Amino acid sequence: MTKITVVGSASMDLVVSSNKRPVAGETVLGNSFKTVPGGKGANQAVAAARLGAEVTMIGCVGDDHLGNSILDNFKSNGVITDYVQPIAGMESGTAHIILAEGDNSIVVVKAANDCVTPTYVDQAEEAIKGSDIVMIQQEIPEETVVHVSEMCAKYNVPLLLNPAPARFVPQSVVEQAAYITPNEHEAAILFGDEPLSDVLRRYPNKLLVTEGKNGVRYFDGTEEVVVSGYTVNAVDTTGAGDTFNGAFAVALAEGKSLKDSLKFANRAASLSVTKFGAQGGMPTRSEVESSL
Ligand code: RIB
Repeated sequence: MTKITVVGSASMDLVVSSNKRPVAGETVLGNSFKTVPGGKGANQAVAAARLGAEVTMIGCVGDDHLGNSILDNFKSNGVITDYVQPIAGMESGTAHIILAEGDNSIVVVKAANDCVTPTYVDQAEEAIKGSDIVMIQQEIPEETVVHVSEMCAKYNVPLLLNPAPARFVPQSVVEQAAYITPNEHEAAILFGDEPLSDVLRRYPNKLLVTEGKNGVRYFDGTEEVVVSGYTVNAVDTTGAGDTFNGAFAVALAEGKSLKDSLKFANRAASLSVTKFGAQGGMPTRSEVESSL
């Protein structure tokens, strides 16, 4: 079984659906409110575990009822939680999500996710060292991203950086990562005004820009390639990017080619949006394979 370690956030998503997104100063009536597990790190861990990988999560929750639910959810999805600690006196991370007009808006309160520090991650050095691939995102402190990148370099473990949500990424991390998976907005924050085609050429087979249902764009060393996405009836796009990353990591760790890994990941992501919740539609292995 392939071994994947995720260093990242684990939160609870507080999701309101309404017909209209309120503008500043406006109050609108919603249709429903639900509480479901989320957080980019946790979502990627669950996505990879459902697809058959042995997944270890490195993260922090609060010592509150949300933290207990987040831990239970990891366990019921088969994610190893040896390095997911409730932090005394802290609240669990939350994401406040409005689903309206066919898309989502999200405010994340990191809370305990800020306790995923370099020192905290050091206690899980053996897990990182023994991984086929490590995944990381940006709902944890920036210095932790740098530290994990250095640990991966030390142990020669490929690092998959999903630079979401968008923020500055140190050049050392950009250079060290084996794969970087921004969406178009995140790519613009990472690389500024430089034309995307130039940036893609600079990082062949490494910089993979996700373009939603249109697919993924990258430079294969000879030409720019788009691996097409799939059109489905989307119910909730929250977590689609996380499903993409989790599935991509699984396929790479199993030795699939880059192109086949991207096809697999696109398919998994397209299935994930057909159900409510970041993790609600994340597919199993057989669901992806039977639909490919
Ligand atoms: O990527 C989707 C996730 O982003 C949600 O589950 C929410 O927790 C936010 O962090």
